[in-house]
Amino acid sequence: MIISVGADHGGFELKDSIVNYLKKSGHEVLDNGTFSSDSVDYPDFAKLVVKDIQQEKARFGILICGSGIGISIAANRHPGIRAALVTNKEFAKLSRQHNNANIIVFGGRFTSFEEAKEYIDIFFITAFEGGRHLNRINKIEV
Ligand code: RB5
Repeated sequence: MIISVGADHGGFELKDSIVNYLKKSGHEVLDNGTFSSDSVDYPDFAKLVVKDIQQEKARFGILICGSGIGISIAANRHPGIRAALVTNKEFAKLSRQHNNANIIVFGGRFTSFEEAKEYIDIFFITAFEGGRHLNRINKIEV
């Protein structure tokens, strides 16, 4: 699959580990930065990943900031984007089954690489259930 990835300085280290993991797993990665620990603004990186999803250049996105909160808020401002801040395995599953999330979000200061790998694997293989959940996600769009 093609995966678009982006992070601010709070997520930079975790992002690099994830990019390597995705490549080793056979995925194509669109790495939108950031590429150092210099301070940057998370909405800029949310926008780059959002664009890849909206333009269907990538199937899923991965966004990381320090807490995961700011970059989730930024991504979810955009039409067609359902970015889920995932902190456990059940959220990884439910965000796909019930919310058809297209971006998985982590807090780089709160989620380890080992945890993130598990959540990503679950996120990628879990299908959206549709049905009543489709009506609900359609109502999200304004
Ligand atoms: C940056 O220090 C931090 O504020 C940012 O990564 C994020 O946690 C914001 O929600």
